[in-house]
Formats: sequence, structure tokens, C-alpha cells
Amino acid sequence: METQLLATKTPAQLAATLDAAASVLADGQPVALPTETVYGLAADALRPDAVSRVFEAKERPLFDPLIVHLPSREWLDRVAEIPVEIRELVEVLIAKFWPGPLTLVLPRHGIVPDLVTAGLETVAVRMSSHPVFRAVIERFGKPLAAPSANRFGRISPTAAAHVQSELAGRIPLIVDGGATEHGVESTIVKVDAGKLKVLRAGPVTMEELASFAELERSMVAARPDAPGQLKSHYAPRTQMILLEPGIKVHYVPETTGRLAWRDSNERRVDDFAAFEVLSPTGDLREAAATLFAKMRRLDAAGLQLILAEPVPEHGLGIAIMDRLRKAAAPHV
Ligand code: TXA
Ligand code: MG
Repeated sequence: METQLLATKTPAQLAATLDAAASVLADGQPVALPTETVYGLAADALRPDAVSRVFEAKERPLFDPLIVHLPSREWLDRVAEIPVEIRELVEVLIAKFWPGPLTLVLPRHGIVPDLVTAGLETVAVRMSSHPVFRAVIERFGKPLAAPSANRFGRISPTAAAHVQSELAGRIPLIVDGGATEHGVESTIVKVDAGKLKVLRAGPVTMEELASFAELERSMVAARPDAPGQLKSHYAPRTQMILLEPGIKVHYVPETTGRLAWRDSNERRVDDFAAFEVLSPTGDLREAAATLFAKMRRLDAAGLQLILAEPVPEHGLGIAIMDRLRKAAAPHV
């Protein structure tokens, strides 16, 4: 299959790209689209044949459910059955964080195909704030199921070129909307009465959520509620070690790369074959936004080993450390 890459820079490009995306989607085919978090591989969420092509292109196991992206707030009660006990909390979260990088796991409505929810009684929903994503989904007029546009278990794409290297030849269309803003996937919470279970850390931080409900953290599970909870995920091909406190590593400088947190005098750039700094000034937002691109660059540098430095584990740092730990976990 030939994969088209379409731009959105000028108004004329955008108009032509929106037409193309809407027509591919109406055809039951998947389209890679930018969101404010990472690029997603979108298909008509209400058509199992369309959704099955997403699983196929990603080589994603069918037990791993997809996030349903809504064209508008009105769609929420068509895809979810929200019990009265959680209605108020859901409304408050939506008013505060939508459109944006917060995914809610709610009891599903029967209209959502089993394939999308992997047979679970719940459905994950969010509304993207990315202008290109919004334009496409508004034009399409129906919910889009969209996992990150990478092959299963690999690093999520934060630029159109990353999607190309993951999925070229497997999907008909990639829409280029530039680099994504947040750089890590949305925060996922399961909403219970007065309580939020955080299934995946993301751009909406624990600190922000804590003011709305009691939080329960459940990010690494033996039998995960969300495969993003699997221990190895978001993984480069090259072996990666996270330099958590107390860890000592012997390495061969000529074949080792360093993923540094910020500028520091304690180690020297020339001691490594490749060197990337997440944020020279120590800004967690910048670190999250560039994390996956820098992991990809090191992964492509022909190294034997990547040594990653930890970042402070608060705010966005919780999501970054979660991704680093999963990238460093032994591959299954
Ligand atoms: O930022 C994002 O969320 C991106 C963009 C494209 O929207 N999407 C994304 O999708 O990261 P994906 O499929 O790569 O990760 C979604 C995670 C998976 O780990 C999946 O298991 C979990 O959400 N998930 C989906 N439905 C669920 C459900 N009903 N209950 C629990 N977890 C669910
Ligand atoms: Mg993913």
C-alpha cells in the first residue's frame, strides 16, 4: 500500500488534506492524525471493519482496547452510560480538562463495538484539542477510535516522520500537523464515585487531579487494566538502563548513548557515542515534549546501550518517569 503524507501548513493545503482525510475515513480506512499529545491512528469507532484495520496496521493484540475520540461533548452520552453517582464528577472534569489530554474510562454504551473496548464493560473517551484533529473529526461527524500511531509496544510518534517510520506501507494517509505539544500520551483515569483511579500518568498531573477527587494510583499492574500499564512498553530496540539512585553501570563509551535530564557538570558529552539532553534548563514540559523524539534518535544511532537519567518525580515528571521505566523494562 502506498502511504500519502499530506501537509496542513497553508489554508489551501489544510482544505485539501481535510477532504482527503474525511474521504479515507468514510471509506473505512485508517488515517494518522496529530493530537496535542502524540500522533494517533484514527478510524471510524463505530465500524468494526475500520477498527480492525487499525489493529492490523499496528500489530496490536485484540485484548488492548482503544480510546474513543469525540467530535463534540454531545457524543459523550451516546458512547458512555454514566451512572448518577459519578455524573457530577465527570461533568466537573470535562468542564476543566476537555478538550485536552485527559481520557476518562466510563461504563460503555452498547453502540460501541466490542472490538474497540476489547470486550470490556467500559469505554475510554477523550476530546482532542489539536486544531487539525478537531477539524478532521468535525468534518467526519462521528467518533474516531485512535491509539498512538506506532507499532505495538514501540515508542509513540510525536512527529509525522515518526509515523512514517512506524507505519509507511501499512496505512493510506498520514496528516502532518508538525510536532505535538505535550509529547506524552493522555492521562487516563477510571472514574468511580468520589474517586479517580489513575491508569496512566500524563500531561494532566496528579496534583491537578487531586483537587477534584481522591486519587488511587494503579500504574503498574500484574494483569493490567490498560496495556499502557504493561511493564515493557514505549520501548526502543536498543537496550536502555534507567540510572535510578544506587545503580552503577559499566559501559563501553564508544557504543553507549546518554539520555540526560538537564545540563550538568558531573558527566562529559565526550564520554558517550551519542548524547541528548531532555531540557538544558530543567523544564519538565520541554522534557516531556522532546522525550520520544530523543529516544528515537538514540535508538537510530547504532548503539549497544542507552543510559537514561531520571527526572524529578513530580508534576509531569511522574509521566516521564513512567515512560522511562517502561522503556527500560526488559522486553518480553
Ligand atoms: O494521548 C493519547 O491518549 C493518544 C492519542 C492518540 O489520543 N492515544 C493513545 O492510545 O495513547 P493508546 O491506544 O496507545 O493507549 C490507550 C491506552 C491503552 O493502554 C489501553 O489499554 C487503554 O488506553 N484503554 C483503552 N480503553 C480502556 C478501558 N476501557 N479501560 C482501561 N484502559 C483502557
Ligand atoms: Mg500506545
